[in-house]
Amino acid sequence: MDIIAGIRRRIRDFAHKLKYPREDFGKIGLHCKIGYDCTLVPKNMFLDDYVVIQNRVNFVSSDGKLIVKKYSVISTECIIIPGTHLAAPGIPFYFQTIAHYGDESSSIEIDEDCWVGAACVLLQKAKLGRGCVVAAGSVVTKPFPPYAVIAGVPAKIIGVKFSKEDLMRHEAAIYPPHERLTEQQVDQLFAHHYAGLKPMKKCDMAEVERFNAAAAIRNYSNA
Ligand SMILES: CC(C)(COP(=O)(O)OP(=O)(O)OC[C@H]1O[C@@H](n2cnc3c(N)ncnc32)[C@H](O)[C@@H]1OP(=O)(O)O)[C@@H](O)C(=O)NCCC(=O)NCCS
Repeated sequence: MDIIAGIRRRIRDFAHKLKYPREDFGKIGLHCKIGYDCTLVPKNMFLDDYVVIQNRVNFVSSDGKLIVKKYSVISTECIIIPGTHLAAPGIPFYFQTIAHYGDESSSIEIDEDCWVGAACVLLQKAKLGRGCVVAAGSVVTKPFPPYAVIAGVPAKIIGVKFSKEDLMRHEAAIYPPHERLTEQQVDQLFAHHYAGLKPMKKCDMAEVERFNAAAAIRNYSNA
């Protein structure tokens, strides 16, 4: 049975690779994972290394782009739409949606290490700063600063991913020095956006140390 399941998986993986050839993407980095049953427009997608698009993600775009930086995950059932129809007197939506007459489109940008929860909708003005967490079912309609935890319809900041100390530790663990936020930038973030907000629930640190993200990333990079 295991052998049959293995063969089935290989066939499915092969068909999946045919469905999304690397050369069809605007850009696709190394170690990116695209889930099953997604509806995508690869030519408008620009994915860095280590990006995960989970199953049944729907990227709807005639022109708009999706730019995702390394380590970010877009969870299952998300819908990403970097464009909209404008009101056009005299033209019914039937024709507008076929011809994309006067549509407005933009780029949705998801910076490094963001987690977009299941069934979120990202609309054309959405931009997520590094490390953002988007709660399941949120509708994102505007830009958010690094490490914001956002939720709701429309999404609003409800928390911050880390305490200041954990944030600095996280940056030092996963980014080379020239990519890290400076202490001054982190201070400004907390002063402007996160005063009085609580950090997200934290993993058991013993587990975190056992996993050792830095070592895992080095291993993946060498794979
Ligand atoms: C956001 C999330 C990570 C929890 O973060 P947290 O900081 O631990 O938050 P808490 O559970 O303490 O909730 C904080 C507040 O946000 C609210 N909240 C949490 N998730 C929410 C959601 N999806 N939508 C709206 N509000 C939400 C809570 O009700 C709570 O409100 P309160 O302070 O008024 O009681 C989690 O709720 C979530 O949405 N996870 C995504 C799961 C998922 O999509 N997985 C996909 C497979 S990878």
